This record gives sequence, structure tokens and C-alpha cells, in this order.
Amino acid sequence: MAMKLSTRAIVVSLCLVLVFFAGQSAAAHGDRGKKGTVGDKVYQIVAKEIRDNSGVGPALIRLLFHDCWVNGCDGSVLLDRKPYGSKTEKQAENNIGLDGFDVIDKIKAKLGDNVSCADIVVLAAREATFIVSREKIDYPVKTGRMDGVVSSAEAADRFLPPSTFDFEQLKANFDVKKFNTKELVALSGAHAIGVAHKSSFADRIDDSTATPISLDYMNALKKDDKPIQPNNIRDKELAFRNASGYDPTGVDTTDMGKGVLDNSYYHANLQNTVLFRSDWELRNDTSGDAGGIMETFKEDAKEWYRQFGDAMAKLSKLPAEGTRFEIRKNCRKTN
Ligand code: HEM
Repeated sequence: MAMKLSTRAIVVSLCLVLVFFAGQSAAAHGDRGKKGTVGDKVYQIVAKEIRDNSGVGPALIRLLFHDCWVNGCDGSVLLDRKPYGSKTEKQAENNIGLDGFDVIDKIKAKLGDNVSCADIVVLAAREATFIVSREKIDYPVKTGRMDGVVSSAEAADRFLPPSTFDFEQLKANFDVKKFNTKELVALSGAHAIGVAHKSSFADRIDDSTATPISLDYMNALKKDDKPIQPNNIRDKELAFRNASGYDPTGVDTTDMGKGVLDNSYYHANLQNTVLFRSDWELRNDTSGDAGGIMETFKEDAKEWYRQFGDAMAKLSKLPAEGTRFEIRKNCRKTN
């Protein structure tokens, strides 16, 4: 009898756990605007933080890629240190300039102990994408992820692609995660926003290492010589754009257009005015696939919005690969 009761209790508890996660999943999808829900709370905080600092949008979108690409979406990119001392993902070379951690902390403080940091990264990126694309890109995500307890700089540098990769290396890197050429090209469109340190594009403005780049753009970058540059030439001042011979046809270069996540990356790439070698390399796919896809995304913004949203949703689903999980109380350290 006691045995029967405890079996029943276990079944009931399991059902409760399932209902809890099912409830969470449903709650996070399409909840923007529904006061008091997890989805809306995340939206409100992300919207405010972006209003206060336009760099927050790009930072949160990049954070999703850098978390999920390394051992799946497990919040491991947020950890400051691990018990046995070696460097965490944050200290990886490929994580230069990674930001948005304070915004994740603010969301965690609002949501409390029941929502994992891994879920917060996913939800924050979704809201940032929605806002920064002027509400053009929206995609469904579920919650119920758990936080990992391992974070390794070595793993981040092994799995994340550096800006110096050629097309074959990019393709192989995305193949590992089962992302195809279309998804690689679609996600690279995120470089329509945000900024980069000079070290990330130094090879492009050095005559001895430069991959094809508009000569005028290269010279304008050399002359400008700021340590941090916008990823997208659209976001540079008019004089710089003119000096680069940039053709803005089809791109919103007004103040309203600056910093917007749109298809302007493909306009820039097809003019050889992108910062990273990895961007330009999309033109170097000998099969012609990537080049053709870029033409399509340049001409058909709606198609890119759709493909980018689908790829971000897929990114958000990359399963955590660890063996020990928890829901962290503080996103920066294990419990
Ligand atoms: C395809 C391979 C990729 C490479 C090689 C790459 C490389 C880089 C590099 C080097 C930076 C500048 C870092 C710095 O110097 O501060 C950067 C910035 C950025 N990347 Fe990527 N990236 C790739 C894919 C992606 C993907 C898939 C996404 C998002 C879905 C993304 C989103 C961003 C964003 C938004 C920024 C600007 C961040 C900010 O301003 O805070 N990137 N990327």
C-alpha cells in the first residue's frame, strides 16, 4: 500500500513537473504585451535597456549565438568563473566585445529563481531582434532550458568561428551544428548592426592580408582609425560613406535607419564594403549558393526577415550538452 501510494505520488509529481514546463513553454510564446507574463517582463526590460543604450540590441543577439554555439543553449557564456580556476567562455578570444551581461542580470532579478539563465538569453535575444528589426522579425521560442555548470574558454575558441575563417571553414563550422548555407548566410545578416574592434578586421585593412574589399572603403577605414567601428557601413557618417563610394540605393541611411536590423548587410556585402573576412567569404562560395542567396536577401527583405527568424528559432533550440544542470540563482555563478 505504502509502495502504491509513493508510486502514485511520484506519478503526480512528474505530472506537475510536466505541467510546469508545458505551462512555461506556452507562457513564453507570444506573451509580449500580456502584463505579468515572463515574456512581457523580458520585453519591457529589453525595450527600456535598448532605449537607454542602442548597443544593447546587438549585444543580446550576439550573446544568443555565442551561448548556444558552445555546448548548446545552457547559459554557460554568462559564468564569471568556475570552481577549478581555468578561464570561462567570457575570456575566450572569439568572445571579444561580448556584452549585455548586466541586462541579463536585470531580467534575472525580475524573474527570480524559476526561470533559467539559459532561457533568459533566448528570450532576451528574441525581444531584441523584434525591437531592433522595427518589429519585422518575430519567432517562437519555448522555455524550460536548464543552466549548465561548465564554461570553458577553450571550448568557445574551438566552436565559435573567428572573423578570419574562409568560406569552407565557415561552412564546416556551421555543418557541425547542422546549419546549412542558407542559414549561415541568413544569420550573418546580423552584422547589419553592432560594432567591432579593430583587431577583428585588421587583416582587411592590411594590404598584405586583405581579402577583396572596396579600395575606397579600405582607405576610408585606414584614415578613420577608430579602435571600434560599426559593422555596417550604413551606420557610418555621410562623409565616410561618400569617401567609400558606397551606393545606398535601397538602404535607409537616415537617422531612423541607423542601427536597424534589416537586409542592408547584403547591400554592403555585394559592394565589398563589409568589415570581416568571414562576411566577404560568403561571396567566395565556389558553388555559387551563398552568392545567390545574398542576392535574394538583398532584393527581398521579407524573405530575409523570415529566414533570419527561422534560423534564430533553430539556434535557440540547440540542446544543452552537459550532464549536470541547475537553475542558477545568479547567472554569473553556479549555485
Ligand atoms: C558566421 C560567423 C561569424 C563570425 C566569424 C562573426 C564574427 C564577429 C566578430 C569578429 C564580431 C565583432 C567582435 C568585436 O570585435 O567586438 C561580431 C559582432 C557581432 N556579431 Fe558576429 N560573427 C558570426 C556570426 C554571427 C551570428 C550567427 C550572429 C547572430 C545571430 C552574429 C551577431 C553579431 C552581432 C549582433 C555583432 C555586434 C555585437 C555588438 O555590437 O555588441 N554574428 N561578430
